[in-house]
Amino acid sequence: MPTETKPSTTSRTRVRDRMEAAAIAGEVHHGANIPTSRKRMAIEAIDLVKHFGKQKVLDGVTFGVPEGEITMIMGPSGTGKSVFLRHVVGLMFPDSGDIKVDGHSVPHLSTEELLELRQNVGMLFQDGALFSSMNLYDNVAFPLRQHTKKSEKEINEIVYERLREVGLAGADKKYPNELSGGMRKRAGFARALVMQPKILLVDEPDSGLDPVRTALLSELIRQISEKYHCTTIIISHDVNRVRSVADNLAVLYGGKCVAFGSQKEIWGSKDPFIQQFLVGAAEGPLGMD
Ligand SMILES: Nc1ncnc2c1ncn2[C@@H]1O[C@H](COP(=O)(O)OP(=O)(O)O)[C@@H](O)[C@H]1O
Ligand SMILES: [Mg+2]
Repeated sequence: MPTETKPSTTSRTRVRDRMEAAAIAGEVHHGANIPTSRKRMAIEAIDLVKHFGKQKVLDGVTFGVPEGEITMIMGPSGTGKSVFLRHVVGLMFPDSGDIKVDGHSVPHLSTEELLELRQNVGMLFQDGALFSSMNLYDNVAFPLRQHTKKSEKEINEIVYERLREVGLAGADKKYPNELSGGMRKRAGFARALVMQPKILLVDEPDSGLDPVRTALLSELIRQISEKYHCTTIIISHDVNRVRSVADNLAVLYGGKCVAFGSQKEIWGSKDPFIQQFLVGAAEGPLGMD
């Protein structure tokens, strides 16, 4: 771990100690030793700007999301994290700048190409976004019935495999309102995975979940991402709860990406702003506000 930086406060030292402990415990993952600048980026934001009326939400966001790794975007509530995710799948378009997925500029894709892109992206929304009129089985089967020509027998196999992966095989006949918040999120996750996406976007997996269920869901996200070699973005306003699962951290603040890199790079940064920011963020979930 970094030895070149002199921590100037005790709390900074404590954060460093915790990071070092996490690295030793194996919580800093596979891409940790390759410099970010040398990685292949699956998603690139280039000077992305987005206004709503007079409100400038994204004010020149620039960073890359390394392929096959888990990147956590953090920032206070209302900084544009969900807005950013919508740009990745072309549900929103920038006023200026660009967002590229696999080297293709999303704002320049045709409608057909956009639909194809979305089929390669699994999105897990904050509440699971299940159809309330369908049971769990039909919810998970929905994308397969919609976008593929698979037989019901093939669909059946895939749906039960996904449900088993998220620990919900016995709940296939239940309707969303019969499930707990944690189960709904896992069900949403099963549905997000059903098309075997190359990219997985997870918005606030910790919202509405207690710390134990957040930890279990985070672990599940890591296992599945690794199993299917997904490029995964996890969004959270709370650094502490889902940080350990991420290979890389990006900090959105004031409409810009103010810090980006592997956990090692970020926590080893000598930039006093990043240091102050991360110490504040690590000491209280709302420390960034
Ligand atoms: N479709 C929209 N129309 C107008 N304002 C929006 C829209 N979507 C988001 N915003 C505004 O953009 C800001 C950032 O929103 P959001 O990305 O949801 O924040 P968060 O970082 O909490 O996910 C908020 O102030 C929100 O009100
Ligand atoms: Mg949000």
